[in-house]
Amino acid sequence: MLKDKNVILGVTGGIAAYKSVEIASRLRKAGASVHVIMTAGAQNFITPLTFREITGNPVTTTMWGEITNYNVEHIALAQLADVIIVAPATANFIAKAAMGMADDMLTTTLLATKAPIFFAPAMNTNMYENSLTQGNIQKLVDLGWHFIPPATGHLACGTEGKGRMPEPAEIVAFVEENSAMSLDMTGHKVLVTAAGTYEPIDPVRYIGNRSSGKMGYAIAEAAQKRGAEVVLVSGPSALKAPAGVKLIKVETAAQMRDAVMDNCQQADIIIKAAAVADYRVQEVSEHKIKKNDQELVLVLEKNPDILKELGAKKRAGQLLVGFAAETQNLLEYAKDKLEKKNLDMIVANDVSRKDAGFNTDTNLVKLLYRNGTVDELPLMSKHLLADELLNRVLRLK
Ligand code: PMT
Repeated sequence: MLKDKNVILGVTGGIAAYKSVEIASRLRKAGASVHVIMTAGAQNFITPLTFREITGNPVTTTMWGEITNYNVEHIALAQLADVIIVAPATANFIAKAAMGMADDMLTTTLLATKAPIFFAPAMNTNMYENSLTQGNIQKLVDLGWHFIPPATGHLACGTEGKGRMPEPAEIVAFVEENSAMSLDMTGHKVLVTAAGTYEPIDPVRYIGNRSSGKMGYAIAEAAQKRGAEVVLVSGPSALKAPAGVKLIKVETAAQMRDAVMDNCQQADIIIKAAAVADYRVQEVSEHKIKKNDQELVLVLEKNPDILKELGAKKRAGQLLVGFAAETQNLLEYAKDKLEKKNLDMIVANDVSRKDAGFNTDTNLVKLLYRNGTVDELPLMSKHLLADELLNRVLRLK
């Protein structure tokens, strides 16, 4: 699993830092290229030289030193990382991470990375069990960060209890197991649509909607990170294409239809999160429409229903997931779309709430399946929801 992967090992200032040398050694034996970042505290327990000798790579100890081995700025390691392990993770460091601080190289790297993050907490039992620490851990778990539970035993402070850093072999095994899960979409070809469409009225005006693309981009990003080959067909959006995803930009529903049809045969999973305009202006004015004293009447004609077309030509082994954005009768309308469009799953999206639906960072959905079951998910970030959706899609395959 870790062969040829770039693993960032963050070491913070706890007595268990000496065990991190064995973690680095085991990672290297597993075939990983290991890059160590030490906090100032860690350097009181162990020297950078030890890690340099074990890993064969330079050790980062400060944001401000002369960078001699790679000619990029301070987020280089965040981008290089396939996985980040912080071991030991002290109570202080966990608190800083949970606050979103970026005052040293390790916190900065964590904030800037898209790689999976694993923490191995190590501290006194009371510090570990303190509700402040537990709250900080929960906050990071909610973001999708992994915590390797500490072991129980004799602690450096002389007490017995929970808070010992697990053995290096256990830490590496935990990371391997959980990273393997995160590549569970290898071999899948996923087509995702995102954002709204713009339907032109004249050269300067259009009919559009409030979709930002956040939901669809999060799905595309999550699928790509889990090993899938991803094509993202997107309406206008301010978002950057997720790394490794093939982005096809479109404007109108008709263009989205063509791009989707060009790419749907190869895909074995299609997820349609885009907010496609149901109607377009029948006669688009060649020139800017000038204001006068009359009312302006626009005649709208129906756009192609892309999802329905996909449902009609769905091939064996292809899984089709639609979204239903509703402000009322959520389940009823979603069930109707599931059946009429021949979907395998529909994401019923309550868009009447301020914290869900269009242009929000969080979302609240219910998932409906062909067999009539309904899966209610709690309010969560669109990134977390993307992974939850993909987990369920894989179970249907
Ligand atoms: O982009 P964000 O700001 O993150 O917002 C996310 C979202 C609210 C847009 C997203 O979560 C969502 O609910 N997307 C579906 C929006 C929508 O258009 O729903 P609908 O109920 O009108 O359409 C039902 C399904 O048919 C959708 O999968 C849609 O992509 C598809 N459709 C609709 C019309 C059409 N002409 N062709 C289609 O393929």
